[in-house]
Amino acid sequence: MSLNKSGREQWGSKLGFILAAAGSAIGLGNIWRYPYLAGENGGAAFIFVYVLCVFAIGIPVLIAEILIGRTTQKNPVGAFKALSSSRYWPVIGGMGVFAGFIILSFYSVVAGWSLGYVVEAVKGNFYLYTAPDSAGQHFNDLIGNIGWSVGYLSLFMILTMLVVYFGVQKGIERGSKIMMPMLFGLIIIVTIQGLSLEGSSAGLSYLFNPDFSKINGKVVLAALGQAFFSLSLGMGAMLTYGSYLKKKDNIPSSAVWVAVLDTSIAIIAGIAIFTVVFATNQSPDVGPSLIFRTLPAVLTQIPGGYIFSILFFIALVLAALTSTVSLLEVVTAYFVDEKKWKRKKAVLIFGFVCLLLGIPSALSFNVFANSKIFGLNFFGLTEFIASNLLLPIGGFFIAIFVGWVWNKAIVRAGVIEGAEDSFGKYPWLLITWEIVLKYIAPILIFIVLLSSIGII
Ligand code: TRP
Repeated sequence: MSLNKSGREQWGSKLGFILAAAGSAIGLGNIWRYPYLAGENGGAAFIFVYVLCVFAIGIPVLIAEILIGRTTQKNPVGAFKALSSSRYWPVIGGMGVFAGFIILSFYSVVAGWSLGYVVEAVKGNFYLYTAPDSAGQHFNDLIGNIGWSVGYLSLFMILTMLVVYFGVQKGIERGSKIMMPMLFGLIIIVTIQGLSLEGSSAGLSYLFNPDFSKINGKVVLAALGQAFFSLSLGMGAMLTYGSYLKKKDNIPSSAVWVAVLDTSIAIIAGIAIFTVVFATNQSPDVGPSLIFRTLPAVLTQIPGGYIFSILFFIALVLAALTSTVSLLEVVTAYFVDEKKWKRKKAVLIFGFVCLLLGIPSALSFNVFANSKIFGLNFFGLTEFIASNLLLPIGGFFIAIFVGWVWNKAIVRAGVIEGAEDSFGKYPWLLITWEIVLKYIAPILIFIVLLSSIGII
């Protein structure tokens, strides 16, 4: 990052922004959450709706969010304060900060499992549990162990805090430039291995042969929530990253790049996992444990699998880290900018509180396994509230704000700036974007939310 005239940090280049935004977007959402949701929601039908949500709603809202950030050069709360005299709009920014905090708590539990799996891989333990059934049992034993799950959760949270504390932007930018391509390469290798298994074609047809009768309100809500989750949308993370952009950078093309990279990784990870699930006659709907039972089974079959499995889980942890850093960064930026806290104080306090909030999520798989609220354990409940409610609600208001509230001439001039040869040249692009923000995105999100709480 370099500094602008007023001393605020800025991305070095458009590529720097795309990589950082993709680093936030690509994480456990693609490799852990997307496959398990697809498995719980009928496979191809879910994927179809998910991809539709990414392109029809996700990209337009992503452009809107980045535009708010680039125009105001502020955190989510400060940005709405700068753009509106109403007292209510900053509340939307505040809700985003809160959502980020909740996501960080349960996300770090899974990131902690991944960290623990690096150690399992080093110990060679995957070779003791090569069938998904026994790998699943081993996983259950591990997460059932309070010391293991809370221990790795704490370790991972400390890693996130260290990065945000020292602000080692350079380290993380440089690190993700190496690790992201490495993760990509490793997923391809795992996918090829998965495809070579006998019976893998059943997995492909599960993924790509949609049974449209399976689409219902619950599937659409899960797909919409996942589109927002995976694109880091609806809570101001992309707004904050956009605030480090230069005016001349092209927002729409960056947004499309981020969405395409993010979605491709999810689709490929899905292939890697479901070919194994079907080739080994597993059931696809086991929930959050899915990748931890299938991946060890496939990794151990690849020549050099010992090394690959270590590298794979290291890359997964780093992909998760580039995402959690963006989550904690939003909370920190808010307290530093708006409440004039010292950066270190904000990181220490909120990292610690978030760790405390993560503990009941980690315990949802052992001591609290049978405590359910609305049929969900604490982990599932926080995941549902943040991803399926707070993120779409945030996206709804961002669309309304840019579509209806913000001065139209400023919005148009803003989004065209840097995009003279796309939005500037083809007015239908601009108009389609405006129609999506004004009508399509808010109406669809509204309907999906109502149906999810059982009103329609
Ligand atoms: N998108 C990340 C993933 O898929 C998770 C994430 C990071 C996120 N920042 C976010 C989700 C902000 C929602 C909002 O792993």
